[in-house]
Amino acid sequence: LKSQPTVFVIFGGTGDLNARKLAPALYNLYLEGWLPEQFALIGTGRTKLTDEEFQGRMLNDINEFSRTGKVAEDKWAAFGPHIHYQAADVQNAETYRDFGKLIKKFEKEWQGPANVIYYLAVAPNFFPIIAENLAKAGLTEDADRTRIVIEKPFGHDLESAKELNALLARIFEEKQIYRIDHYLGKETVQNIMAFRFANAIMEPLWNRDHIEHVQISVTESLGVGERTGYYDGSGALRDMIQNHLLQLLCIVAMEPPVRFTAEEVRDRKVDVLRAMRRFTPETVREQAVRGQYGAGWLEGQKVPGYREEPGANPQSNTETFAAVKFFVDNWRWQGVPFYLRTGKRLHRSASVITIQFKDVPHLVFSPETVETMRQNRLIISIQPEMSIRLQVQAKRPGVDMMLNTVDMVFDYKGTYQTQAPEAYETLLLDVMLGDQTLFMRADQVEEAWDLVMPILTSWQNRISQNFPNYSADSWGPEDAEALVAKDGFHWLTLPLNGKK
Ligand code: BG6
Repeated sequence: LKSQPTVFVIFGGTGDLNARKLAPALYNLYLEGWLPEQFALIGTGRTKLTDEEFQGRMLNDINEFSRTGKVAEDKWAAFGPHIHYQAADVQNAETYRDFGKLIKKFEKEWQGPANVIYYLAVAPNFFPIIAENLAKAGLTEDADRTRIVIEKPFGHDLESAKELNALLARIFEEKQIYRIDHYLGKETVQNIMAFRFANAIMEPLWNRDHIEHVQISVTESLGVGERTGYYDGSGALRDMIQNHLLQLLCIVAMEPPVRFTAEEVRDRKVDVLRAMRRFTPETVREQAVRGQYGAGWLEGQKVPGYREEPGANPQSNTETFAAVKFFVDNWRWQGVPFYLRTGKRLHRSASVITIQFKDVPHLVFSPETVETMRQNRLIISIQPEMSIRLQVQAKRPGVDMMLNTVDMVFDYKGTYQTQAPEAYETLLLDVMLGDQTLFMRADQVEEAWDLVMPILTSWQNRISQNFPNYSADSWGPEDAEALVAKDGFHWLTLPLNGKK
């Protein structure tokens, strides 16, 4: 299952994304035998570097950030020479001729055409100019062999997302465009599809008759730190919910695809987004909560509030926390709330999906014998714990009939001895193989923007009077608790905190 001969061009080759994610991922793909023999990586950036200098930088980055640890000398001796560097001013159309020449050179050496991947690891304001200049230089014409990869943000709102999609569509066919949502590459996220569609026992329960509500919670203990430049114009809703969390929701809520192919899976996911209930200004007030962290303490360290982070606006109205109650208006999910929450500087980093089932229809045991009677829950822990738990009631050992709740656990660590690949390894290989299943299609991006726009507009128009409204090490603002409590629920956190 190796890809064709490939030239992998990284715009922003000297940047952070390449250092932390792309370089280690490509190296690990090489280590595990996934890369073709005929493979060339071309880093580009404004800095002038020789191939050797760039190879040295990549080696340092891989040593620092790879999950597989320090690079062995013999491995580097084999992998290093695949790496090249071409200084470039991406604004200048002339520059692109040089890429053309380099690509031709490899093709000549390899005696055949290569797949060419352009990875735009640069700020999104460069996407249009790079795409246009690639086209002008005639580097995008072969739709079967050239691909472009971009990272979010895909626009800042619905209108700009449409513009970006339209611009890309003028130059590329959709099958050439790979929009990364790195959550889709996570091992545990892909497994939700295996779990749902490779097990017959799930489907009969997977609907409004049996499921009471769903929670999708992605909490982070890190603050925004140095990223205020980007983050202040974004906020939690744009940064996380519009993409990662809604994608998780789609995977939980989608209809079974006929086949596990890119178009089928993406069709079924976009169906969910289309079915999601749109917000009005009133429902935004009732169903959406925002927060911003103030200063506080985290693990014995004093940490600044969001407005005190380096470069932050001291009056910022940007939310660092968002919780929203969504509905999916279709036969399967009518009336089932989906609560999504995410935030920075929270008590713990954990990404967890909880499917809570309905109560037993009638309790045959007397209430005194029930210690902690919970509804059944399926808890899919994406990170850091990688597990699926099914919470059921069981008889506690003893001569009396006492019930309590126990977990049936599938834990990756216990089950598999191998280390899971990083999301970027999976995704980069998929780009090379031409598999778009785990990538965002234009219509998905636009539907997700369409859904969140009323919330964004309403928050933008109403200055939040009570920011900051949660402190470091908490679970966010009180209103987020109230959002679920008024429906009789509470947010579930892992490790389970013993509360109902
Ligand atoms: C990114 C966001 O897309 O995802 C960040 O821009 C966030 O703000 C990150 O921290 C979370 O990703 P992960 O893989 O660490 O959960």
